[in-house]
Amino acid sequence: MARHSFRTRTWRNLGLLIHGYGRTSRNELRDAVGGRTVLVTGASFGIGEATARRLGAAGATVLIAARSSEPLQAVADAINAEGGTAHAYPTDLTEPAEVDTLVKRLLDEHGQVDVLVNNAGKSIRRSLARSYDRPQDFERTIDVNYLGPVRLTMGLLPSMRARRTGHIVNVSTQGVRPFPVAPGWSAYLASKAAFEVWMRSMALEVRGDGITATNIYMGLVHTRMSAPTPSLSRLPGLAPDDAARLVCDAIVRRPRSVAPWWSPAVSVSNAFLSRPIDLILSGVFRRGEKGRTR
Ligand SMILES: NC(=O)c1ccc[n+]([C@@H]2O[C@H](COP(=O)([O-])OP(=O)(O)OC[C@H]3O[C@@H](n4cnc5c(N)ncnc54)[C@H](OP(=O)(O)O)[C@@H]3O)[C@@H](O)[C@H]2O)c1
Repeated sequence: MARHSFRTRTWRNLGLLIHGYGRTSRNELRDAVGGRTVLVTGASFGIGEATARRLGAAGATVLIAARSSEPLQAVADAINAEGGTAHAYPTDLTEPAEVDTLVKRLLDEHGQVDVLVNNAGKSIRRSLARSYDRPQDFERTIDVNYLGPVRLTMGLLPSMRARRTGHIVNVSTQGVRPFPVAPGWSAYLASKAAFEVWMRSMALEVRGDGITATNIYMGLVHTRMSAPTPSLSRLPGLAPDDAARLVCDAIVRRPRSVAPWWSPAVSVSNAFLSRPIDLILSGVFRRGEKGRTR
């Protein structure tokens, strides 16, 4: 038992060392979000749930959206029971009409959204060979990881620009940057990359109107999303609350990006070593796939 908890603690500390940790104090978060309205998508589980709980404890009015209405309402109830203010909005981000309704309800009922955290997402790890007759993998990931957040952000931007204030956060992945593109994740990574690029372009257009935008290049977080991939479950990663602290850091400090400390070194080595890195990744992937079919 003691050995197990030592390993768990060491693994978690290693995850924090590798993927980074939030430095914002409770008071700083309270000063930044107290009395403000923050929308967190994908808050029924994982990183979004932990972020919503942190923001609720810091005095934000937390608006949360996801598909599963019961877990979503349970998160809102828990925040309200602890003295915070939260409202649940069951929404499927892949349904354009539902996103439009969400935007309308939020603005009608709360007047404004000060901070939007685009966190909802879906990942798929599947080789191309197993995807030939599964166009839905590409459609679903692009719908939830790109088109939904674009529509939602576009719905809220006009009111933010009119008030000349607002902050938009995207929970992206290290798989987009700084890591080289990995085989087996084409549907997921392409959709996450699409939104990351959209965010960077959007940020340049709206910064003159007082709007800021942050891409978080999140490392491995042990959630429902990473659990089905055994190789990821064994690696040191963050707990959802560690990831939520990184999101809260982004909300308080409003940087253009949040990336791990080793990110510049990996970006440089990607530039110089792209051929050998590609060979290694492709070789490891082929060996793994052969193992799967045996
Ligand atoms: N876990 C990691 O290692 C990791 C690493 C880097 C980046 N990320 C990113 O972090 C974000 C959160 O992931 P997580 O690890 O916390 O995963 P998670 O526990 O599976 O949570 C994903 C959230 O997104 C919501 N969601 C999924 N499809 C949706 C849809 N169509 N409409 C509305 N909401 C939807 C889910 O709620 P419902 O199912 O109730 O709709 C859930 O609340 C994702 O964008 C992911 O790409 C994760």
